Amino acid sequence: MLVRLQAEQERLLAALAEVADEDALYQLQVAYLGKKGSITALSKELGRVSPDERKRLGAELNRAKAAITEALEGRREALLAEARARDLARVEDLTMPPRRPPFGTLHPLTIARRALIQTFRRMGFDVAEGPHVEHANYNFDALNFQPDHPARDMQDTFGVRDRRGAGDLVLRTHTSPVQIRAMLQRTPPVRIIAPGTVFRCDDDATHSPMFHQIEGLYVDRGVTMADLKATMIQFTAAFFGRALDIRLRPSYFPFVEPGAELDMQCPFCGRARGQTCSVCKGAGWIELGGSGMVHPAVFEAVGVDPEVYTGWAFGFGIDRMAMLMYQIPDLRQMFDGDIRFLQSFPG
Ligand code: PHE
Repeated sequence: MLVRLQAEQERLLAALAEVADEDALYQLQVAYLGKKGSITALSKELGRVSPDERKRLGAELNRAKAAITEALEGRREALLAEARARDLARVEDLTMPPRRPPFGTLHPLTIARRALIQTFRRMGFDVAEGPHVEHANYNFDALNFQPDHPARDMQDTFGVRDRRGAGDLVLRTHTSPVQIRAMLQRTPPVRIIAPGTVFRCDDDATHSPMFHQIEGLYVDRGVTMADLKATMIQFTAAFFGRALDIRLRPSYFPFVEPGAELDMQCPFCGRARGQTCSVCKGAGWIELGGSGMVHPAVFEAVGVDPEVYTGWAFGFGIDRMAMLMYQIPDLRQMFDGDIRFLQSFPG
């Protein structure tokens, strides 16, 4: 028995050297000292030997058990120490910058819209808004469009099927219905801009079925067309860094009288130095949009007394403005969603 005890002890020591983790160590402990362990089996044999032998062998067994326990503990501590050393040896550079997800960039339209809003805000205009799905009433009737006006034709206007009985609905074809909403909500003086998305059945290199306008409206006592022109000159000075001349060409819109096309002196011509400017094609002027004095019929539709108040309005394309700012040749690029295009604008 002594020989076997000796053999078991040696076998254990050899196995211990191989043990690489706590789990394996525990398995080993069970295999020797557990209920069915080999050392435990040996101690059970003690009952079959003479009292003298038992005393001697018992002492040996206890000594062996103590030695085995000590060896196991020693190995356990060594494993722990190794793990700690591995932990400490791990080199982490705490000064290394973390990997960040790439930042997005602003769409050129967003940049243009924000710049326009900021410029007009500083000039005392509030930002007003209206829905994309608009009452045909606000989009046309209140703006003095006659029932047979060609713009109401479904070839130009997207109709919206109405399931809740809210009356005729359309996708707004311009931001002018916000004039109506603003005047219904406020009492003069009204000084608002209304940037937003508008929709028309149109699709080619210079027209998109979805585009963007910014409306301006100023209503007060004694407002004249001179105020419109002065405001636009001030706007160009603030927006383009120098006052540009403004040209008004007679035109027709049902909701203004007189009405005018609003042109701005080309801000890029000076840079072209004698060559024909590629932006205005040598014309010297860039068409911004429509404008005019608010028609008395519009005032009447919203309950503003045209004998007391006058006002002007303008509406021009934000997409066009962004194309001007960044020399974008094709309107459709704005809505293609090509990442390379979108990442090329400094916010
Ligand atoms: N709403 C007109 C359009 O979309 C533009 C406009 C606005 C004209 C305000 C006059 C006054 O064409």
